[in-house]
Amino acid sequence: MKKSILDFRKMKEAGEKLAWLTSYDFPTAQFAERAGVDMILVGDSMGMCVYGYTGGTMPVTMDQCIVHSEAVRRGAPNTFVVGDMPFLSYQITPADAVRNAGRFFKEAGVDAIKIEGGRRIINMMQALVNAGMVTCGHIGLTPQSSGQLGGFKAQGLTADSAYELIMDARSIQEAGAAFLLLEAVPPEVGKFVSEDLKIPVYGIGAGPHVDGQLLIVSDMLGLFEAFTPKFVKKYANLAEHTVKAMKDYVKVVQEVKFPEDKHTYKMLAGEKEKLEKLV
Ligand code: KIV
Repeated sequence: MKKSILDFRKMKEAGEKLAWLTSYDFPTAQFAERAGVDMILVGDSMGMCVYGYTGGTMPVTMDQCIVHSEAVRRGAPNTFVVGDMPFLSYQITPADAVRNAGRFFKEAGVDAIKIEGGRRIINMMQALVNAGMVTCGHIGLTPQSSGQLGGFKAQGLTADSAYELIMDARSIQEAGAAFLLLEAVPPEVGKFVSEDLKIPVYGIGAGPHVDGQLLIVSDMLGLFEAFTPKFVKKYANLAEHTVKAMKDYVKVVQEVKFPEDKHTYKMLAGEKEKLEKLV
């Protein structure tokens, strides 16, 4: 049965960790659901992992996010799916934020949406919550504003920077977010924030003390090769397996060893002879 935010709160209270993965397509979403993943993020990391944009997540559009969220929803009908709001879909006005977030729910049937930023986007967060949407905050390393951070850099490494993150986390909870994602912060900060907040606090590179973990599926399956963040653990190397399978295919095609008899269709008895007469 699909879990809800009530289950996630109970899991936090019971100290039960949640497993969260990104997914961008139908088959991967099916595999995630089959594997018992608690939550799926249709992340704007699709910009890098699926589309190969070198500009990070910034070029990703609403339409791309909707199409991928629809595919994931179809693949994982019984898993809690979070749609990731792309750059400039929520930063301009609260009305834009509500309209765009509404598309995720109405067109793709997601269960929640996620936006990046703390106090500076809090009016957008409030507007989304007031519109009745389940909303997830995201602070720490925020890829959409990574230029301002000087790149994909860990955050909260100093007391001052950790303090700012804690203030952001508190205001996100205050605004009514259902849960929070902390990205690339030291474990001490992850521990403090998850103990400080009543809402579940999940981490991607935030250490083991948070209420659950997120990984980018392309990283953990070894499909994304451009760079590997420190917090990634690879559970498979599908790039290697894929290239090997493709090389094997190229070789047998060149050697005329594929297709084999079992891969071919048979004409009905006597039809070949009839055809020869016809032509
Ligand atoms: O888009 C995404 O996958 C994300 C993660 C990096 C947290 O937002």
